[in-house]
This record gives sequence, C-alpha cells and structure tokens, in this order.
Amino acid sequence: MNETTRYKILRQREMMKGYTAEYAGAEPTDQQQKLPFPMPLKEAKGTARIALPMDFEDVVGNKGIFSLLAERESCRVYAEEEVSLKELSFLLWATQGVRRYAGKSRQVTFRNVPSAGSRHPFETYLFIRSVEGISPGIYHYLPAGHELELWEDRDDYALELTEALNGQKFAAEAPVTFVWTVLPYRTEWRYGMQAHKYMLLDAGHVCENLYLACEAAGCGTCAIGSYDQERLDELLGFAPGPSAETDCEFSVYAAPVGKKK
Ligand SMILES: Cc1cc2nc3c(=O)[nH]c(=O)nc-3n(C[C@H](O)[C@H](O)[C@H](O)COP(=O)(O)O)c2cc1C
Repeated sequence: MNETTRYKILRQREMMKGYTAEYAGAEPTDQQQKLPFPMPLKEAKGTARIALPMDFEDVVGNKGIFSLLAERESCRVYAEEEVSLKELSFLLWATQGVRRYAGKSRQVTFRNVPSAGSRHPFETYLFIRSVEGISPGIYHYLPAGHELELWEDRDDYALELTEALNGQKFAAEAPVTFVWTVLPYRTEWRYGMQAHKYMLLDAGHVCENLYLACEAAGCGTCAIGSYDQERLDELLGFAPGPSAETDCEFSVYAAPVGKKK
C-alpha cells in the first residue's frame, strides 16, 4: 500500500468514528452560529406531477415482523411483471414518507425512518421502467405532498445507468431503480464534522426500510453501494466533483426493485 492510499484510508476511517479529540477545537456548527436552517424538502421543479395513492394497506401481506426479518434477503432477479402504483407508493412512504412537521417554519420533518437530529438529508430519484400507470422516465419523490415529479422525460437511460452502477445490469434494468442522493449541508448545519458519520448511518436505515417494505409487499430489492459517482451524478443532472455549495447534492446509495419471482 503506498503512502497516498494509506493516508486516504486513514482519513476515511476517521470520518466513520465518533467524537474524538480532533473535534475539541472545531468551530461551532452553523446551527450553533444561528445561521438559517436548510429545509429538508426540495421545491418541485419538474414538468409534471403525479399524486401517489395513500390507500395502499392492501399491498401489504399479513406478514409479521418475525417473517419479514427472517425472509429478508437481497433479490437480484425480478418477475417480468409491473410494480403496481400502490406498491411503489407504499415503498416511497416507508422509506421517506413524512409523518409530521415540527418547528416554527415546519422545518423539521419526522418520517418513517429515523435520522440523526431528524435532519433527513436524502432525496429519492426513481428510474422507472415498468410501473403501472407511469410512463418510463426519471422521477423525483416529493415527500411533502406524497407525489412524484417528472425529473427527466427520457427512457433511453439503460446503458448509462448500467455503466453508472458499475455494470450491474440487473439493477439498471429492474422495473424501478431507487437512487438516493444526499444534501450534506442539511446535517452539517447541525453537526459539522460529525455529520458524515450520521449521514452514512441514516442511509442504512432508509435502505433497510426498503428491504422490509419490499418483503411485505411481495417485491424484492438489493442494496447497491458499488456505483460510479461521477456518472450517476451526471445522469441525475448534478455537477460531479467536490463542491462547497450549501445546496450541493450527490448520490450515495441505490436499490433496484421488482416483483419477486
Ligand atoms: C452497503 C451495502 C452495499 C451493497 N452493495 C451491493 C452492490 O453494489 N451490488 C450487489 O449486488 N449487492 C450489494 N449489496 C448487497 C450485499 O451483497 C448483501 O446484503 C449480502 O451479500 C448479504 O446478502 P443478503 O442481503 O441476502 O442477506 C450491498 C449491501 C450493502 C449493505
């Protein structure tokens, strides 16, 4: 291992740790300095909006928590069957749905997943190939109104998505592929240097909820941590490379979804 690699590995390890002496002299976080809070919900910018159904109780089988946990597994082969709109709606609700708001400006969201400080730094994008009643394309989830907005009206992304997911064709060609991005400032505002550890932990909760919700609804999924950062960010329209902007956004995790065979 050369010195550069060793240095990078050590930095990454440090980033995963809890508070250490290094944080003692750190300047106060932006929240402690009373800077304005970043909202945890993006404004809709897409060309079309699709209201998602909330009457999705019937897509959930009668499985108890024991069988959901015991039967959860990564699924990489899907039935040649559409995902229904209610199933997709349920999966979005389970992973990022907003239950209630708090704060004077409703700036805090409480959702179906936990998040450090309830900062909820993620956005959900969907590459839709085969979902009942939705034209193939790239969509963005709007948790506030439980809607989808059309992010990009194109359905010819299969090759680019496969390359962006490091050649994992099964993930790029699933009926729907979730990609979660992070807006790190939402969490950095409160936690400064500690934020990055929390955001990675938060991402795990989101994907685990997707696994369990899929299991309950007869769908399968597989966490995707192996992807090409620049290609995936460019495909979603986000500038690749480091950015110090407060609204900088980049991909962190993905997961294909389809009906189980
Ligand atoms: C953070 C993370 C990243 C992963 N990345 C990938 C991936 O890129 N491709 C893949 O096929 N599986 C990926 N997986 C799935 C694991 O390979 C899988 O969870 C593991 O083999 C255990 O199998 P199980 O989920 O069925 O218990 C990932 C899982 C996690 C938690």
